[in-house]
Amino acid sequence: MNIWDRVLGWLTGHRATPPEPKAPPPIRPAPKKAPARTPTTRQSRPTPQPTPSSSQPPPAQPQPRQEVPPVIVGLDFGTHSTKIMLRTRGAKQANVLVLDQRMDGYPWFAVPSLVRLYDGRLFFGRQAAEASGGTLYRSLKVQLLRPHDGPVEQETFATGPEPDLLVACYLSWILERVRAHIVASHPHGEPRVFLNMAAPMNHFEKESLKVRYLHIIQSAWESVFGEKSFPIEQGAVLEKLRPRLQQLLKEVVPDRSSRPFAVLPETVAPIVSLSLDPRMTPGMYMIVDMGAGTTELSVNHVDERGADQKVLCYHDESVVIGGDNFEWADSQGPQGEAETKQLIKAFRRVFATTWHTGYMKDRPNPAAHGRWRNFRVLLAGGAARRREVERAIVDRRPFSNFPVAEERYDVAWHCPTDVILDKSVGESGDQLALLAVAHGLSVPRQQWPEFFPPAEVEQQKDAEVVDMPPAYWYLER
Ligand SMILES: Nc1ncnc2c1ncn2[C@@H]1O[C@H](COP(=O)(O)OP(=O)(O)OP(=O)(O)O)[C@@H](O)[C@H]1O
Ligand SMILES: [Mg+2]
Repeated sequence: MNIWDRVLGWLTGHRATPPEPKAPPPIRPAPKKAPARTPTTRQSRPTPQPTPSSSQPPPAQPQPRQEVPPVIVGLDFGTHSTKIMLRTRGAKQANVLVLDQRMDGYPWFAVPSLVRLYDGRLFFGRQAAEASGGTLYRSLKVQLLRPHDGPVEQETFATGPEPDLLVACYLSWILERVRAHIVASHPHGEPRVFLNMAAPMNHFEKESLKVRYLHIIQSAWESVFGEKSFPIEQGAVLEKLRPRLQQLLKEVVPDRSSRPFAVLPETVAPIVSLSLDPRMTPGMYMIVDMGAGTTELSVNHVDERGADQKVLCYHDESVVIGGDNFEWADSQGPQGEAETKQLIKAFRRVFATTWHTGYMKDRPNPAAHGRWRNFRVLLAGGAARRREVERAIVDRRPFSNFPVAEERYDVAWHCPTDVILDKSVGESGDQLALLAVAHGLSVPRQQWPEFFPPAEVEQQKDAEVVDMPPAYWYLER
């Protein structure tokens, strides 16, 4: 097991590789209400005990209990919308989970990342968007990027509940619906559930952000899957929830080996998604995921698919630039044009820096830097659809300053593969590129390619120095 495996084992809390189970049945629509549950933990459903009766035939020989394979929930809590995919461990395909009614301005599978507080009651997703009155909390994820005790700029957050509490309520509402769906689609026993969520950070993790995320996820998890669960539904009264959630938010997060949830860098998930694509050919890939609030970039070498596939992540960055910034600039009319130009300039800078930092590792070695001649940029995230952004990537090769002339420079969209769409939606897959993060997160760590994070992708030695024969080679001739 290499260092990265150990690090990711630590992140995900999984160690052993389980046996490969069969693919899951196709997804069914989630029931409106969660079925009744036992108050015990959902992770192990008790086997029903037969009632003794003399008139009944002798009980049949006990059959070995069929193990229900675990389900991994890939939860992409985005600034604009939340996307969810489910995968049974070992399955090739993953299901897109549709938890909310469709709404204009959102992909058909997405839940608006919105919370409305009206008359002391909480409303989530589409219902929050369509209601009026009270306070609408949007861009909750971006609020978490601010320091915990730092100045809160938005007035709504200055006077209202703290973002951690609102996000915990929102995620609890989401998880309750996810759980209801899993229960309904597993009539023979409730599977163990593992949750992977991404935080907007790169491999050089922001420890404070990760800890903050872990506390929020833990409180949402406990409110749904814990022993003393308290499902949060539309119209829940905030003041009733507040003490319980605040208590949970303060609790110590268990050790990695005993918690079923993990927080991963948001730059990693699309690479995992890419590595599953059978159309992918080995080579250098830059992934640009520009969402509403943040942009994640990573530059990677991905080799042949297969059991020992390796991904070398040369460099990755997560920056707070996204569709929200562009939309704000658009709303300023002609004055906003300068702002848009500044945003594009800032994006280009981080795009070039990501490439440059990665390329410099291979530059001293001609054989190594040769592979940068075939360079593909894969786009994910809604704001990458903006013409200015796509043009900034397509038109300008930011790499012309360096001694590597690309023979091939492609810009395309990354669409996750082996995705089961809900038949009732009857929708083409044109928006699937927005699922790259959820798709990657739904893959259990055991199925990831072997990953080398930037710290493990070392700078190449100068080939001429390395290849120089040692002095004795000349002496002994
Ligand atoms: N066709 C389009 N043209 C321009 N912008 C678009 C288009 N489609 C979506 N967007 C923008 O993309 C953003 C949503 O994208 P996405 O769902 O990837 O974000 P998110 O995952 O919620 O955010 P983040 O990843 O930053 O947390 C919104 O700002 C939306 O306005
Ligand atoms: Mg996103």
